[in-house]
Amino acid sequence: MVCLSHPHRKAVMLRVCGVRRLWSSSGTATLPILGAEDALQRWRAAVPPKASSTILASYSSALGGITTDPSLMMIPLDDHGFHRGHCVFDTCALEEGRAFGLQMHLDRLLRSARQAQIIDDSIDASALREVLRSIVLQTFAAAGRRDQVFMRYWLTAGRGDFSISPSGCTPPEFYAVVHEDAEYPEDADHPPAGFSAAIVDVPLKTPLLATMKTNNYLINALVAMEAERLGVDLGLQLDDQGNVCETAVGAVAVVDGDGVLRSPPADQILASTTWARVRELAPTLVDQGVLSGCIADEALHVDALASCSEMFTMGGGWVEPIVEFNKRPVGTGKPGPIFNALDALVRADFLSTEHTDAVPFADRI
Ligand SMILES: Cc1ncc(COP(=O)(O)O)c(C=O)c1O
Repeated sequence: MVCLSHPHRKAVMLRVCGVRRLWSSSGTATLPILGAEDALQRWRAAVPPKASSTILASYSSALGGITTDPSLMMIPLDDHGFHRGHCVFDTCALEEGRAFGLQMHLDRLLRSARQAQIIDDSIDASALREVLRSIVLQTFAAAGRRDQVFMRYWLTAGRGDFSISPSGCTPPEFYAVVHEDAEYPEDADHPPAGFSAAIVDVPLKTPLLATMKTNNYLINALVAMEAERLGVDLGLQLDDQGNVCETAVGAVAVVDGDGVLRSPPADQILASTTWARVRELAPTLVDQGVLSGCIADEALHVDALASCSEMFTMGGGWVEPIVEFNKRPVGTGKPGPIFNALDALVRADFLSTEHTDAVPFADRI
């Protein structure tokens, strides 16, 4: 029997109470048919306390603007992104008032959108990327914060009837939200303690779904929940040959017994922008003799994890150490020298003009 950790029990209780609230608030009572004013008032009252303090700004193409009122952060129910899951998304971090890695993330969003057939070759992708870039930067500016915020944005198949095919839809819709970054990584003076990870028994997505960043993250949510049940921070999926895939929302890399940095190819997982950048940076560490090499195009079998000296999860531009795997320490059980070297290199990226876009705060004053 799996022993449920305390936070997990609490999460389950909250979900049960939430369902009971739905019962008692609607139940068999006659429901009001609300006018616009009443509806707005109720939306205002319905914002969960946590959302009202953490959601800073949102954009909706359906609305045609930005709002800083969390109660107006709305998705129309007839959007196929909602009722059919026909939607792709991506993210962007903000550091010292500059949006990090936005070009890479928008490129991946458009790649995913092509795979999901939300856009096709008739679309001028570079013009669309410019429009989305401007929306993202303006929404960051409206949030008015320079650090410790994160953006998520979604491109949907569009609004329309409730059919399965989007052929009757409006053009794609775009939504974006800026929120507090609860998982903001520690600074260089306060290094991270590191994560624990364990293999989870959750089936993989098909490669088509896994290689595009759609909002069908049910499997990813189950990976995270299984990790909670096991009492670890991260769940790691393997394929049926025992090859390492990814965690719920991160790529995985190891330093193997020969000092080679390795992460599996992105043929059945999401192509991580962080890993793409780490691969570019790795030769510097090879030249310095810190690493013996870097392999990105070979499967990584789970057996190799037993002898690895360091293990990482990567996402959102950050590399984070995994110090415990399947309840055993990884290497010394502490963040190691390769982590320290990679962390310094990726942190420098966050401040470089090459990898960041300035947020137009001044235009908002
Ligand atoms: C499933 C999955 N794998 C990997 C990653 C890491 O990708 P990135 O490094 O581009 O943030 C993410 C996060 O976006 C993810 O959701």
